[in-house]
Amino acid sequence: MKNREASVLNIKGLTKFVDDLPEPSDCLQAAVKLSESAHGRILSISTEKARALDSSVMVITAKDVPGENQIGTNKSDEPVLPESEWEYWGQPLVLVLARTRNLARKAAALVEIKSEPLPVITDPREAAKQNSFILPSSTAYCGDTVAAFAQCDYVVSGRVDSDGQEHVYLETQGCFAEVRDGGKVFVISSTQSPTGVQRSIARCLGLPMSMVEVEARRLGGGFGGKEEQASYWASLAALGAFLTHKPVKLYLNRHEDMRATGKRHPYSSDFRIGADKEGHILAFEADYYQNSGSSCDLSPAILSRTLLHATGAYHIPNVRVTGYMCKTNLPSFTAFRGFGAPQSFFVIESAIDLLARKMGCSAVDIQRKNLVSEGDISHYGMPMKRVRAKEAFDEVIAESSWPQLKAEIEEFNATHTTEKKGAAFLPICFGISFTNLFLNQAGALVHVYTDGSILVSTGAVEMGQQVSSKIALVAARTFGLPVDKIHVERTSTLTVANTVPTAASTGADMNGMATQIACNEIKARLSKKAAEMLGVSPDSIEFRDGVVFSSGKDMGLTWNKLVSAANMARIDLSAHAYYATPNLVFDATRQWGSPFAYHVYGTACVVARVDLVRCTYKLESAFIAHDVGNSLDETIDLGQIEGGFAQGLGWALLEDLRFGEDGRPLSDTLSTYKVPDEAFLPENVKIKFLPGIENWAAPFNSKAIGEPPLQYGIAGYFAVLNALRAAKPNGPDFYSIPLIPEKIEKYLDGAAK
Ligand code: MTE
Ligand code: HPA
Ligand code: MOS
Repeated sequence: MKNREASVLNIKGLTKFVDDLPEPSDCLQAAVKLSESAHGRILSISTEKARALDSSVMVITAKDVPGENQIGTNKSDEPVLPESEWEYWGQPLVLVLARTRNLARKAAALVEIKSEPLPVITDPREAAKQNSFILPSSTAYCGDTVAAFAQCDYVVSGRVDSDGQEHVYLETQGCFAEVRDGGKVFVISSTQSPTGVQRSIARCLGLPMSMVEVEARRLGGGFGGKEEQASYWASLAALGAFLTHKPVKLYLNRHEDMRATGKRHPYSSDFRIGADKEGHILAFEADYYQNSGSSCDLSPAILSRTLLHATGAYHIPNVRVTGYMCKTNLPSFTAFRGFGAPQSFFVIESAIDLLARKMGCSAVDIQRKNLVSEGDISHYGMPMKRVRAKEAFDEVIAESSWPQLKAEIEEFNATHTTEKKGAAFLPICFGISFTNLFLNQAGALVHVYTDGSILVSTGAVEMGQQVSSKIALVAARTFGLPVDKIHVERTSTLTVANTVPTAASTGADMNGMATQIACNEIKARLSKKAAEMLGVSPDSIEFRDGVVFSSGKDMGLTWNKLVSAANMARIDLSAHAYYATPNLVFDATRQWGSPFAYHVYGTACVVARVDLVRCTYKLESAFIAHDVGNSLDETIDLGQIEGGFAQGLGWALLEDLRFGEDGRPLSDTLSTYKVPDEAFLPENVKIKFLPGIENWAAPFNSKAIGEPPLQYGIAGYFAVLNALRAAKPNGPDFYSIPLIPEKIEKYLDGAAK
């Protein structure tokens, strides 16, 4: 556990999250008043009753925002506080400050807002009908689908729906802000994007970015929810601090967080797929109606990832897929692990499932036959290299003893009447890099202190994914030092500037590369000094286990002695480095190019057992073969695979995010919204790493791990569906995430939607 010191703090409950930090004695607590309908026009705001509660109460409204009342980055459609209209149920309308949190909350409840109702849309297809879009639609295409469909022996089409997903990070959104040193705004935010928060605060306070300092320590989880949307809460807290000149803390309770913040985008999609007699897929078309919610947020980048993952792990020569960003009166949906890809993986897998039924064969056969191979050109024009789709798939066929497992399931189903089993495979091919090209950059600052200890700062935010441990490992390996010599500092806009969010699974890759470059710079200076001291050539120098070697020989010069000598010789022991992922080209309007540094491959097979009487299920086992590259730390990667898989299973089968037709949030507490627990997860999970492979885009040939495994959860959906079909072979074909017991019951009654 040495290189995972942060985890030990977590386990012992010693990690300080934003709300655990000691507060200055004059700190004010903030609360927000949330809207209580999905769409309304503000006629008047009356604050007398709220202010009468306590002399410390202060109510802040849109007109108090000194700079631009706007935090939207992709589109200016998100006011910090609304001036005239609110657009979803749970939108903050005013900010209230008071000396205690209780008082602030009570005062917020006493703010009276007169309003008139406005029309509400919650369904993306309805929004599309009414031309309610965030931005124009976007299409990716290759080949000629019209001609190709005409040549297909089998063509099927259908509809697929997937609901949203709540992040349920353990630490809710929050921020501490204060004005320091006569005007500088200092903020500690639970954010994946300190620079984004800095930019947003500067904008709404009308300050230069140099007057805003943002720090992110450890987050109690982000999962995408704090990539763009932490800015909101940080801007509100900073606004309070700026206006009162007192420290302010804003921290949402779970109920507020579940109402007010964005989640995974629900999608409703139509597909058409065609294949030849042997089951080679020749053409695929889809229309994705993305429920974007009330504002733009990250929706275009998410839709782009949907389009780029439309063909899943398969090569399809003729493709035309279009995505619509449908504006509705729901909280603005945002980044969530997978970032639009899980939704399109579910569509292509549903299409293959239906095709297999039409052809009377197993989906596994069609899946295997169409997996992407070396040298294929993707439907967005990228030549596919170092492809491992078949390798992973076959590994799982072997690991699960598939022919035998299949026979066992058939045998079980033939001999059981109240229970049935099903299994399904899910291959992945997940593109690594931000779909927003310019975000593919990172920086690192490395200091070697005179006692030989090392401090590394990067743009990466630690949120439980152990990016700090990975960066420490990169620095340790580069310097040939034990990892306990390295300390990775919290993330701050002071140490590394203009950083991108820690997201798109690129945190360890890009910040690790920047760290490696910075360490190599210092190492070159130290090698030169060592060579001088030892009278050998700098090229012969190597650092191993804290000792200098020349041409493979231990020279008796320790790292500590060398560092100290270098300092005496006035050699700079610090370096800043910058890394921009090379060779990326992408035309976002045409959705065409090579937008990814590389792809991550893998396959999962899940076996489920359904209780036909209770309409419940148990996940029995899962087999996963995953492409971790040369893992920097196998324990961390294993944890990420298990965590991502669990979160994916939760989305596919369990988590039931609901809104009323009037836009009212119906699953806004942890008693009405279930998340996976240990009992829900498969009893036996067998995970195998594919052997390492060359990868120039990540340190030491490692590979990104954060998001790809989430997709494996979709195998759980089809495993349960296949078990249902064993009970009722000709039940309706339906593809609707999450596959909760209510839907199972409907299927078995023949009335599933
Ligand atoms: N793991 C934990 N424990 N907590 C998190 O918040 N976020 C996920 C993934 N794994 C997350 C996590 C998401 S959405 C991403 S994009 C990656 O971690 C980001 O970190 P990385 O780029 O360093 O892998
Ligand atoms: N993933 C996550 N976040 C992002 C991306 C992406 O591809 N593009 C822009 N923000
Ligand atoms: Mo992850 S959804 O890219 O923060």
